[in-house]
Amino acid sequence: MELSKVIESRRSIRAYKAGAEVERAAVEEIIAAALEAPSWKNSETGRYYIAISPEKLEEVKNALPAFNQNNVKNAPVLIVTAFERSVAGFDGSGNAVNEAGDKWGAYDLGLQNENLLLKASELGLDTLIMGIRDTELLRKAFNIPPSQEIMSVIALGYRDKEPVRPVRKGVDEVAVFG
Ligand SMILES: Cc1cc2nc3c(=O)[nH]c(=O)nc-3n(C[C@H](O)[C@H](O)[C@H](O)COP(=O)(O)O)c2cc1C
Repeated sequence: MELSKVIESRRSIRAYKAGAEVERAAVEEIIAAALEAPSWKNSETGRYYIAISPEKLEEVKNALPAFNQNNVKNAPVLIVTAFERSVAGFDGSGNAVNEAGDKWGAYDLGLQNENLLLKASELGLDTLIMGIRDTELLRKAFNIPPSQEIMSVIALGYRDKEPVRPVRKGVDEVAVFG
């Protein structure tokens, strides 16, 4: 699919088709696409924890507030995204290279996650990023080490309802040319 079509078709989906499974191979393909993203010194600090079994799906859903739980209740896959702290943006002695510190890890994870979202769209899959979540419950669910910062949960599945495209700002509102 053409990139502009993929970008257009990606939307946050808050209703998933019940019983429409996603193969593990498809999840592996979209995570491989995430790994093609640029990262600080190619440090690739993004980490993915994939709930695909009914038990893990339940555990991850329990880490979401009611409205997010309801929106992803039929999603067959939930991906917890995290990054290894104190690597991207840090030198070999563990000192932050500049004022942004671990924000570079979050920056890199965001780049990876956009690749993930777009690859999912290309494969005809839909997604929802959720930043409102309980990180301690997520940490327990996958035994995620304290060295990793947990960011979003991304739902993956097939849309059950056509979304409305939220209004976007104009280029002139966000870009300054000099
Ligand atoms: C970091 C981040 C956190 C988000 N958290 C949530 C969330 O907890 N629940 C939700 O329904 N949508 C969440 N969203 C989705 C945004 O609301 C959505 O991307 C935005 O409204 C634009 O819509 P679109 O994705 O369809 O273009 C989140 C998006 C991002 C990037």
